[in-house]
Amino acid sequence: MYRIAPSILSANFARLGEEVTQVLDSGADIIHFDVMDNHYVPNLTIGPLVCEAIRPLTKAIIDVHLMVEPVDRIIPDFAKAGANIISFHPEASRHIDRTIGLIKEQGCKAGLVFNPATPLSYLDHVLDKLDLILIMSVNPGFGGQSFIPEALNKLRSTRERIDASGCDILLEIDGGVKVNNIAEIARAGADTFVAGSAIYSAGKDSDPHHYDSIIAAMRAELAKVA
Ligand code: DX5
Ligand code: ZN
Repeated sequence: MYRIAPSILSANFARLGEEVTQVLDSGADIIHFDVMDNHYVPNLTIGPLVCEAIRPLTKAIIDVHLMVEPVDRIIPDFAKAGANIISFHPEASRHIDRTIGLIKEQGCKAGLVFNPATPLSYLDHVLDKLDLILIMSVNPGFGGQSFIPEALNKLRSTRERIDASGCDILLEIDGGVKVNNIAEIARAGADTFVAGSAIYSAGKDSDPHHYDSIIAAMRAELAKVA
């Protein structure tokens, strides 16, 4: 029921393939792939070529989080590179419904991402077309920031909307997720947890796959959620 999605933003890029394989072998479910363009957000990361390079390593879901503007031009490139889910920020698209349609035409699942100050009203006319809603609990652009508590209220409101719709939509949280807050975040309604620095800074040489302990610790916290 709960999915852990390590953000490879915090991985060691000099050996990215190994970092992807190890985190999945340690029990993670999804690879979260942060794409930043130094325009929509003040940072620059990885693109479709890197997605294509990691695709053969796993059958796990690759969850592409686009922090780019404009978004439409690059969507087919990520679909061809093997993305399973493609999410975008409504502020970065002129035509939100069209962008959702484009993602689906390309054979991917579609997600809409909400910055801390972005209102949920963007869901009003498109909720039933979405496969994933991503609530940002930090301002996008960097790993290692602190969780913004207001995101918990936003998760609760989003959970109500999803449940009322009867649609099958993942509710993902991204930013500042740690072992000590993941249970509270789950209680607020999230079912999919992005964690970058919390996972990739906690690798242990004594773990068989380097990240087993940290992922087990997160799962143990989630198991406490009624
Ligand atoms: C921020 C990214 C996040 C980030 C999360 O813009 O979307 O996915 O990597 O990193 P942590 O878990 O370190 O906050
Ligand atoms: Zn992200």
